Amino acid sequence: MSPHRIALLPGDGVGPEVIAEARKVVDALGLELEWTELGWGSAHWHEHGRMMPEDWGSALDGCSAVLMGAVGDPSVPDHVSLWGLLLELRQRLDLWANLRPVRLLEGIPGPLAGRGPADVDMLFLRENTEGEYSGVGGRAHQGLASEVGIETSVFTRTGVERILRHAFELAEGRRGLVTSATKSNASRFGYVLWDEVADEVAAAFAAVRYERVLVDALAARMVRDPGSLDVVVASNLFGDILTDIGAVIQGGMGMAASANITPDKSKPGMFEPVHGSAPDIMGTGKANPIGAIWAGAMMLDHLGEHAASTAVLGAVEHVLANTGLRTADLGGTASTTEVAQEVIRALHRTG
Ligand code: NAD
Ligand code: IPM
Ligand code: MN
Repeated sequence: MSPHRIALLPGDGVGPEVIAEARKVVDALGLELEWTELGWGSAHWHEHGRMMPEDWGSALDGCSAVLMGAVGDPSVPDHVSLWGLLLELRQRLDLWANLRPVRLLEGIPGPLAGRGPADVDMLFLRENTEGEYSGVGGRAHQGLASEVGIETSVFTRTGVERILRHAFELAEGRRGLVTSATKSNASRFGYVLWDEVADEVAAAFAAVRYERVLVDALAARMVRDPGSLDVVVASNLFGDILTDIGAVIQGGMGMAASANITPDKSKPGMFEPVHGSAPDIMGTGKANPIGAIWAGAMMLDHLGEHAASTAVLGAVEHVLANTGLRTADLGGTASTTEVAQEVIRALHRTG
């Protein structure tokens, strides 16, 4: 079999710290892989005035996946760095599905009283290219008292339908419930279209239970009764916010992983931890690498390396359940590297 070509995009802040460890874990599996490291990010912006080269697409030619750390540095305005890299890649590669599993793993002290791993197993599916993050809008009369800023949400039937359909497909392979989140009481157009399309798509999946929940009530329900949720499908903004709540429910920002994909695999997927560049802990060795390692496992699964993916997640679960080794965010004292080394030891133990 020809090797998988993977682009490694460490990015900014703790991105390079966690991604180096995720790579070591993937490398420990002994698969045939070819890595290409991309030096894109805020340092590239300072040097070249762009977050990535203009012909970035050619750097990804022949790559079947991107493993990414995080983007964002206090020295570059966030809307410049994110629109110059992460959001650009998601939109231009049409990576319309963002998958974010929210599972509380054994051994992690979750923040919800009386809830354990059996109560927290949700899969968030976030629309990833349009909606509130379409990038449509403008500023006028800048600097004047009459200044305006307009940010327009764009919902297309095509975009909404494909994400909803995928949510139902995913639910068929899980516990069979789709919860669709909107705010169609206060916003009258895009979310109403979303609700209507959700009703239509639901009708084609008779075996899947389906509910529409207003996003504010859903945020409360995630905390009050997470076990009542299975697949949650939401717009770009709502999926973004809900999955930070989800990350904390599963132990903290450092635990959560995500996959930006086209489910038909027509484009290279991009796999990343949910967290950002965490400038507050950058360079301290305290960053939790598990979100990044889990993203690596999601990448392997998407590449068809199912056994390898299961082995990585199994090794993470083993470390958390059976060793006291944890980074500071989980109440431990271990470093980023020590946690990853333990995951690799666990991989060798089982493999
Ligand atoms: P953040 O996720 O970087 O940090 C939020 C909090 O979580 C911080 O206290 C941080 O220390 C903690 N944290 C994050 N990752 C951690 C890890 N692996 N281990 C332990 N603790 C961790 O979010 P923010 O502070 O809002 O944003 C910082 C920068 O990152 C900004 O520039 C923002 O735009 C960017 N950002 C990038 C991405 C991305 O690249 N996917 C995601 C979110 C934010
Ligand atoms: C995420 C991040 C990004 C998003 C930001 C950094 C643009 O918060 O992946 O959750 O909102 O998509
Ligand atoms: Mn986010």
